Amino acid sequence: MAAFTLAHLSDPHLPPLPTPRLRELMGKRALGYLNWTRNRHRYQRRDVLDALVSDMHGQSPDHVAITGDFVNLALETEFEPARAWLEGVGPPDRISIVPGNHDAYVRATRHRFAEKLGDYFGGDDASGNTFPSLRRRGPLALIGVSSAVPTPPLMATGWLGRSQLRALERLLSEISTEQLFRVLLIHHPLRSDARAKRLTDSGELCALLKQHGVDLVLHGHDHVHSTMWIDGPDRAIPAIGVPSASALAHGRYPAAAYNLFSIEREGNGWRCQQSVRGIGDDLVVRQLNTTRLI
Ligand SMILES: [Fe+2]
Ligand SMILES: [Fe+2]
Repeated sequence: MAAFTLAHLSDPHLPPLPTPRLRELMGKRALGYLNWTRNRHRYQRRDVLDALVSDMHGQSPDHVAITGDFVNLALETEFEPARAWLEGVGPPDRISIVPGNHDAYVRATRHRFAEKLGDYFGGDDASGNTFPSLRRRGPLALIGVSSAVPTPPLMATGWLGRSQLRALERLLSEISTEQLFRVLLIHHPLRSDARAKRLTDSGELCALLKQHGVDLVLHGHDHVHSTMWIDGPDRAIPAIGVPSASALAHGRYPAAAYNLFSIEREGNGWRCQQSVRGIGDDLVVRQLNTTRLI
């Protein structure tokens, strides 16, 4: 059987940012808007995102995972364009998403993500659009969790919570007897040096993964290329992060890129190869490197 190809991109922060209404700029959004108008609009670019997605379409992946931060300030007017963009990437059965902290930026609109984009993460069963979600595609079990919670200004932490962790544990134990390549999708990285940006209950999640295992973790949030290894029950689990899908290189942040994972059965286990494709200043996307992860 041919290898299954999973593309992963993250943090599109869909540009351009619509002009907020004055009343929307109360509180946390005021700082975020200032940051956008002063800095972010220069390096979060729609032409970059379009070039990256066009290259990804050319690679014809079997499925696409997108790990959050679709919007910027979670304004009411940001969710329709996010939906339209996602439909351009592909239909809900070919794309699996989880929310990022910017998709739940403030309490007032924290439910819009599920309302507008729920069919892009809804699970295979009829249990509704909730997390954790489970989608079976080819040999894959795509398991989505939501770490997106509104936070105080200048904070970008994530949190899963005990009930979601318990449900995740049940889900992992239910599928443990099936021959599936389990991919966990989460916005926040499982380890972070930055207190203001970390997943606050990552210790609980890592303990759960050490006991039940998954085969691959995909995340965003840090906007950099990243490979971490997390303890699993019998071997280390690769956890891979990607730069923002709309970014020009700036400061310590690399230009937009996405990963292609080629996954196939090998003997009693799996073979998983990662190819990185990134954009240059000329907006041309090139293959950067290929690594065998498993
Ligand atoms: Fe982000
Ligand atoms: Fe984020």
